[in-house]
Amino acid sequence: MTEIKATNVTWHEGNLTREERWKALGCTGCTLWFTGLSASGKSTVASALEQVLVQQGINAYRMDGDNIRMGLNKNLGFSAEDRAENIRRIGEVAKLFADNGTIAITSFISPYAADRDAVRALHEEAGVPFFEVFADTPLEECEKRDPKGLYKKARAGEIKGFTGIDDPYEAPAKAELVLKCAEKDVDACVADCIEMLKAKGIVG
Ligand code: ADX
Repeated sequence: MTEIKATNVTWHEGNLTREERWKALGCTGCTLWFTGLSASGKSTVASALEQVLVQQGINAYRMDGDNIRMGLNKNLGFSAEDRAENIRRIGEVAKLFADNGTIAITSFISPYAADRDAVRALHEEAGVPFFEVFADTPLEECEKRDPKGLYKKARAGEIKGFTGIDDPYEAPAKAELVLKCAEKDVDACVADCIEMLKAKGIVG
């Protein structure tokens, strides 16, 4: 649980409702939360999806685990506690982007179901659409790809607590979309995401 240290603060309501903002800007925001093992393909699909949406004039913005850990979350490691804080912070940021009318695309391993569920609840409480996308690529395939050589290092004991090797990954039970990234190419996965966004009324 996050310790609340901010006291004597008061919520300041703006002059616009979300509906007024989205109508004036002609957009509908949401968070598309990719989860999956390292090298599962989530960042590749997220990047391609962002590109397709923006090229169609739809405001989409991608937040990637490795990238965010080089800035906003550079003070967090990979303990369960730090991963929870990583996900909590980016869940809050994604909610702000989505509230702004952006399709917020997040790409984090987010291995713990409870952390992802907390982000879902945060969005639900705020009335902001949230969709979980599971990059369902088997560990063997991720390890075979190993683009950053991290699985090799983890197997050699040079990285401790690596997801899938000596740290857990809890697969989602109720993801809105399951992408079989090892069986489909990137374009097909992007098409699946867009189909879901259409079905949910986020894009036309
Ligand atoms: S999460 O578990 O907190 O969601 P996040 O997606 O931000 O992780 O970062 C994962 C990336 O950090 C991996 O793709 C990999 O490049 C790098 N990394 C470094 N150490 C670890 C580790 N112990 N477990 C998983 N990924 C790691």
